[in-house]
Amino acid sequence: MKFFSQNKMEQEDVLDEMKKFNSEDSNWRDGKTWSLVYNAGEEHSKFLKEAYGMYFSENALNPTAFKSLKKFEHEVVRMSAEIFNGGEHAVGTMSSGGTESVLLAVKTYRDMAKSKRFLALRKFKPEMIVPESVHVAFNKAAHYFDVKMVVAPLDNTFRVDVEAVKKLINKNTILIVGSAPNYPFGTVDPIEELGKLAMSKNIPLHVDACLGGFLLPFVAKNGHNIPLFDFRIPGVTSISADVHKYAYAAKGASVILYRNMDYLKYQFFIDEDWPGGVFVSPALLGTRPGGAIAAAWAALKVQGEEGLREKAKIVMKVRDQIQDGIKEMPELRVNGTPEAGIFSFVSTDKDINIYAVADYLEEKGWHTDRQQKPASLHVMITTAHEHVAESYIADLKKSIAEIKKNPERNKTGNAAMYGMMAKVPVRKLIKNELMKVMKEMYSVSGETPTLDNSGRDDLATKIAKKILN
Ligand SMILES: Cc1ncc(COP(=O)(O)O)c(C=O)c1O
Repeated sequence: MKFFSQNKMEQEDVLDEMKKFNSEDSNWRDGKTWSLVYNAGEEHSKFLKEAYGMYFSENALNPTAFKSLKKFEHEVVRMSAEIFNGGEHAVGTMSSGGTESVLLAVKTYRDMAKSKRFLALRKFKPEMIVPESVHVAFNKAAHYFDVKMVVAPLDNTFRVDVEAVKKLINKNTILIVGSAPNYPFGTVDPIEELGKLAMSKNIPLHVDACLGGFLLPFVAKNGHNIPLFDFRIPGVTSISADVHKYAYAAKGASVILYRNMDYLKYQFFIDEDWPGGVFVSPALLGTRPGGAIAAAWAALKVQGEEGLREKAKIVMKVRDQIQDGIKEMPELRVNGTPEAGIFSFVSTDKDINIYAVADYLEEKGWHTDRQQKPASLHVMITTAHEHVAESYIADLKKSIAEIKKNPERNKTGNAAMYGMMAKVPVRKLIKNELMKVMKEMYSVSGETPTLDNSGRDDLATKIAKKILN
């Protein structure tokens, strides 16, 4: 099969083909997905597309050529510094997303530590201490930048155990990380205590607020009890927060903020000898899409504190509706007491496999993320869920009734796969199989995952099949 046709195609035909592919994807427009898309409605999307489109071709690689993009980036950073109480010294850059912000933070602290250790003429192997629930982007950063990731356990509230963190500190520790909140459980780590510990040991503390950075402050302003997690805590040296999540911006926009320039300077890359000219770069990417930066600025301006508070209110209302619904089902239980609209739930009934619940929900058109450790389903509420909370709870209830009526559902389909995958004792086996699947997916034949499922779920199914067959 030839992919690149010799002849031109009509634009209309290309777009028609794309529409067809798109119609087979997960149905986020009707609030049927619980992750991946932060949707604030048609009108907001239309506005964002206009803002993005205006800067569709501009490149923030060179801020002197596109001064307006530099202004947008500067103002997005300033607005974020205000939201996170960074005062007049907090500085930062935009990045393409949470993962880039996390990578940048780890690289920055590694380089900072190296420069200081170098001065002291000490050889060392950098280590960072992260909660077990930290986002996998830190694992990636550890891998890319050769920093050892030391994992601290959680306490029974699904927040990091600060005493355990303390015990893990050694002379190679370059960084401590806490999340506000973490992805798997939606709980906010005890940042205040971590801050005290970090200060007492003179170690930087990064707060990963990629997920909740533009939600928690507005939930707090609406009167809910949210623990401090920002620069008001003296030990916090940096914060990452994604504008493309709960600030409902276009994809490709995050912020990485530092307490002051003493940290940020280690993020910059400068090559004064490159034949192509003296080169400076503030973040990981070379070409930086102007559209994403412009749309982030536009999203923050158009919503302001008022808009984000309104949206936070909806999120919390839906959160209460869904959690109240779950409470009425003795077979299910929410993990811990998460602060805002992100949480996960497990089965408390040995006759209900939570993955069978996910299978049922999927049959009803819900795209549900399945988690491991513990086996649970993930929920991430946005304003798009305001009108689906009731039908989601109704389907959850029906799933329990259906599984009780047909217990074989616990042992068939994806439920069986996930259940058995969790029990594969040699985890390396799974890693090896995943590598094979990745090679297959990115090979010349490029076997693509089926479109009715996320890549992740589909991968799990494929691996399970391979291991179990
Ligand atoms: C807590 C947290 N940190 C970092 C990330 C990475 O963000 P991105 O997917 O934009 O790279 C996520 C993504 O969900 C997250 O939840």
